[in-house]
Amino acid sequence: MRVRILLATLLWVTLGIGGVWYSATRLFAKHVEQSYHEELEVHIKELAALVRVGPGGNLGMDRPLSDPRYLVPLSGFYWQVSLDGRETMRSASMTRGSLDESVAHDSSIHHHVESGPTGPAITYGLIRRVPGVGDVHYVIATDERLLDETIARFERELVVWLAALAAALVATGIVLVTFGLHPLDKLTAATARLRSGAATRLEGDYPTEIAPLVADLNAFIDHNRTTVERARVEAGNLAHALRTPLAVITDEAERLSQDTRTADAAGVLLTQSQIMVQQIEFRLARARSAASARGPGTTSRVCEALPPLLSAMRRLHPDKTFDTSIPDGLDTTVPIDAVDLSELLAILLDNAGKWSREAVTVGLARTDGTLQIRVLDDGPGLTAKQVTEAFKIGTRLDPAMPGSGLGLAIAQDIAAAYGLTVDLGARADGKPGLEALVTIPGRPPADG
Ligand SMILES: Nc1ncnc2c1ncn2[C@@H]1O[C@H](COP(=O)(O)OP(=O)(O)OP(=O)(O)O)[C@@H](O)[C@H]1O
Ligand SMILES: [Mg+2]
Repeated sequence: MRVRILLATLLWVTLGIGGVWYSATRLFAKHVEQSYHEELEVHIKELAALVRVGPGGNLGMDRPLSDPRYLVPLSGFYWQVSLDGRETMRSASMTRGSLDESVAHDSSIHHHVESGPTGPAITYGLIRRVPGVGDVHYVIATDERLLDETIARFERELVVWLAALAAALVATGIVLVTFGLHPLDKLTAATARLRSGAATRLEGDYPTEIAPLVADLNAFIDHNRTTVERARVEAGNLAHALRTPLAVITDEAERLSQDTRTADAAGVLLTQSQIMVQQIEFRLARARSAASARGPGTTSRVCEALPPLLSAMRRLHPDKTFDTSIPDGLDTTVPIDAVDLSELLAILLDNAGKWSREAVTVGLARTDGTLQIRVLDDGPGLTAKQVTEAFKIGTRLDPAMPGSGLGLAIAQDIAAAYGLTVDLGARADGKPGLEALVTIPGRPPADG
């Protein structure tokens, strides 16, 4: 938009200034030429009036022409009077050369550009017949360069002024664009803050033209947040409400399984109930967290979430060590709700604690704005096939270890809600064990 407006301004200024330059120079040249010609006509009439032709054909003058430039040698202003080639009189300025007396051939004034004593000259001539003596040729000439110089001087000055005017216009255009589009810049920045999680609404005051848009957007964001919040509470309530009837069904099925006649049917009931319990626990865990309620504008810091988690893990798995290394100055801000971040990390840390032999390490790194969290353990690890299985609800690959098989499914769900990835695989350093890699895209917010 900015570039378009500036280009349009530039084009307009160029056209306008070009037009002014063209018409001004044309007008001025025309005007100067006209006044030159008028002046020369006056001069030649004055000359014709001043020169006296004696009866013997001798030429004389009562006084010089009123314009003093005809007296200065080679000034560019010349006159010449001749009597049929016999007698010739010249202006004092014409210290060399002569003017072509054939410019005129009758009593009206004619003009041409001829070569004069000092270059091409605008030459005026007229002829008067003196009875008994012959034709007197009056010629007056002015160097053409004087006219050209005047026009050139004007053009030079005009160019300077027009250039200054163009610069002023373009500067005004830039200032207008900068000031005029400032609210849009502000809106862009506010949107960026919203996306990055630094703000929960579009902040700032806006001019009346875009204020309604901003208000609508904010209303939409608020409405969205309350809708999601309500849905989240409803889902939690529903899951919670199903728990008790399910517990009654499970109890009843267990009672029926004692009887050999109903044992098979009871077994089916128990398995299905178990699946339902897992589903409910999973949904409840998700509804409790803010993942699904996440609006724009949530952030947390991994470096703040980790310490309490690690100390909890040390208590939960007292025979394992938990270590972390956070590079100095690393921005660990991520666009994830703090509760969800803690839950995600707790799932991975708990698994690592459960299956490691002795050590769990957490590493953080940022590349191109993407934050990577690595949870490494020195346990048995998982094959690629087992990894796919492990993410499913209720999968427990190691029956010897207590658990509900929901952890990784929840982790996957949180990751999907935030557009993150959770990958399990062999450790990058080649040591035995499992590496859980969480990749969190999104640049850190501008204000950290
Ligand atoms: N770090 C690990 N090393 C080896 N196996 C693992 C590791 N993490 C997960 N697994 C395997 O993946 C399965 C699924 O993990 P998940 O966290 O979903 O469930 P869980 O830990 O068994 O139960 P819950 O986390 O719900 O208490 C685990 O039962 C385990 O067999
Ligand atoms: Mg687990």
